[in-house]
Amino acid sequence: MKLAVPKETKFKENRVALTPDVVKDLVKKGFEVNIESGAGMNSFFADEAYTAAGATIVADAKKLYADADVILKVNAPSPEEIAGMKKDAILLSFLFAGTNPDVVSACCKAGISAFSVDAVPRISRAQKMDALSSQANLAGYKAVLMAANHIGKILPMMTTAAGTIKPCKIVIFGAGVAGLQAIATAKRLGAVVEVTDIRPETKEQVESLGGKFIEVKGDASVKIEGGYVKGVSEEFLKMQQELVGKHVMAADIVITTALIPGRKAPLLMTEEMVKSMKFGSVIVDMAVESGGNVVGSELNKNVVKNGVTIIGEGNIPSLLPMNASDLYAKNIATFLLHLADKDKFNWEMEEEITKGSLIVHNGVAVHPSVAKPVSA
Ligand code: NAI
Repeated sequence: MKLAVPKETKFKENRVALTPDVVKDLVKKGFEVNIESGAGMNSFFADEAYTAAGATIVADAKKLYADADVILKVNAPSPEEIAGMKKDAILLSFLFAGTNPDVVSACCKAGISAFSVDAVPRISRAQKMDALSSQANLAGYKAVLMAANHIGKILPMMTTAAGTIKPCKIVIFGAGVAGLQAIATAKRLGAVVEVTDIRPETKEQVESLGGKFIEVKGDASVKIEGGYVKGVSEEFLKMQQELVGKHVMAADIVITTALIPGRKAPLLMTEEMVKSMKFGSVIVDMAVESGGNVVGSELNKNVVKNGVTIIGEGNIPSLLPMNASDLYAKNIATFLLHLADKDKFNWEMEEEITKGSLIVHNGVAVHPSVAKPVSA
């Protein structure tokens, strides 16, 4: 089968779907790999490295799309790019299908099949394919560094001849993949870290990383299923804001990572809470792309409110493109090899990973997250 990796065209995207190392492995397994010229440049992988790994470099993106049996991407292609794919071609990429109806309907119109990497179920068997986690883990690390860069202070305690500097106090909302890595990174840099999450099992994980857990007892409105928060009431969020508010007031840095899958991010930091923070403190709102955990955060902007900087970087993994592409390439190649061999896709429609991640099959929307099925 002919695999194709186009250059990513999304704003500020530096990642690439396959790295030369992974290309080498796929070529060894019998796949033909075509890479758009310059696709890896922003991740520091030159065309020559892909050629040495056995890929063919293609200068014309339209031709690359039109010839491919399988397109591997980080972000969903545009509807125009999808229209240029051959019928029966297969797309593997982040699609976030539930919130991207245009992409889903373009796949249906083009008669292709599309798997969404973000819909791979978070089960042990699929851990090596879990690109959401591999990218969130890197983003959690980088979020702490971004905050550290913006704040006019050091993070650790330091005893000097001129006096002792107190360590920075960091409050982290959400102890999922991004949050746990943020805790580990902040602790390594010497900060004092306090964390809140509403899944009770996170207390032990937070404490094992040296964080202090801020306990907010869930009420009847907190719905947790399969390890994910599925919903909370406005009243609960108010109660949480009051309780965590005291910790926020004393913090130098706040990092918010709270997510309810498939929904708008819960509002955790009200305008009053932002105002209550010390002059010069910094907030990183990691959920900014899904609506934001912080009042006043803006996508891809840093805004300053009453002397508090709110960082709203929407694509943090792209700031670490070497590692992010490396891990993503391993995730997507493992996913591909689970679904196919060099000659064909298996189409085991009842298999859990296939069923969970197949959004469009031969031009028909088949995934439950795509509310209204659209057919070719
Ligand atoms: P995750 O699902 O592993 O963790 C989310 C955590 O939020 C869970 O532990 C959940 O219990 C917690 N949570 C939900 N409601 C809460 C509440 N009211 N208070 C406290 N905690 C609450 O998700 P992951 O992979 O760690 O991602 C976290 C966020 O970071 C997501 O919004 C994701 O979209 C975002 N993200 C942003 C990136 C960027 O570039 N800005 C990159 C990667 C992830």
